[in-house]
Amino acid sequence: MTSKASGIDRILTLELARVTERGAVAAARLIGFGDEKAADQAAVDAIRRELNSLDIQGEVVIGEGERDEAPMLYIGEKVGTGKGPKVDIALDPLEGTTLTAKGMGNALAVVAMAEAGSLLNAPDVYMEKIAIGDGYPDGTIDLDADPADNVRALAKAKGVDVSHITVCVLDRPRHASIIQSIRDAGARVSLITDGDVAGVIHTTDPATGIDMYIGTGGAPEGVLAAAALCCIGGQMQGRLILKEKEHQARAKRMGITDLDRKYTAREMASGDVVFSATGVTSGSLLDGIKRQGDTVWTDTLVMRSTTGTTRRIKAKHTNISKFNLDD
Ligand code: FBP
Repeated sequence: MTSKASGIDRILTLELARVTERGAVAAARLIGFGDEKAADQAAVDAIRRELNSLDIQGEVVIGEGERDEAPMLYIGEKVGTGKGPKVDIALDPLEGTTLTAKGMGNALAVVAMAEAGSLLNAPDVYMEKIAIGDGYPDGTIDLDADPADNVRALAKAKGVDVSHITVCVLDRPRHASIIQSIRDAGARVSLITDGDVAGVIHTTDPATGIDMYIGTGGAPEGVLAAAALCCIGGQMQGRLILKEKEHQARAKRMGITDLDRKYTAREMASGDVVFSATGVTSGSLLDGIKRQGDTVWTDTLVMRSTTGTTRRIKAKHTNISKFNLDD
């Protein structure tokens, strides 16, 4: 079984849920205070502490930035006890810093883990992305096609009128022509202010009413979303935006030779992949952190590509002091 080969066992999979639980609980203490940095830092501290308690030889490949710009969880940082399997770690301790600071929904603590060498080492630049859920023929979508053609192709594959297709798009001026093209084709647009990891995952769950995700967002979030789709199913394509010389140089330093490459989800996250996300603020994917006195409730989605198992873990933690939040 691949799990043996990769060294990522069942226990480690569940341990990853604990890691994002702790990150989410730490960030939740800062919900609504308008301080994005403090909320992010709280999640970073908690996630770093928990990762360092795991029996892994981990290396952060998608993190808070490069060593000179991020004091913790920087790209290349080693995490774990140094015993156990060699793994790549991709993380966004707080996906939705603005959402958290403003007390808005859909903020998540997110970590993915995979066999060493199997996650795309992407610089912290933008990425063009397109994604749909599972069950459609390969090639239904194409990053290089017009959004209008993509929605028509999905409607055909789904056997519905285009007006039954809803596309999730980040609400940014740079997406004006994408939004226009989708609407001109007769499809609907669901705008989000932040949080495109959740935006991509939404395409995999018919209950969300989202059929497709299109737009440009963070490359780290792109790799994390790809890791999720490798577990849960669905199609995704992404391409790094490397127009500036400095970005090109960073990509080359990370081993990227083809700067225009269009990656599939499996090309961004191969092998045995585990993905965990815990809700910080309530949203359409997960409930947010709830706290009463010393008791805290968490809601986590943890999944693994090798088994295809998706677990929704709703946990009640009765002694928040054990989270060491004031360390
Ligand atoms: P942060 O929480 O790291 O700020 O990311 C939020 C987010 O909305 C991502 O989900 C998305 O990929 C990216 O920011 C979009 O970037 P920008 O806000 O620059 O358009």
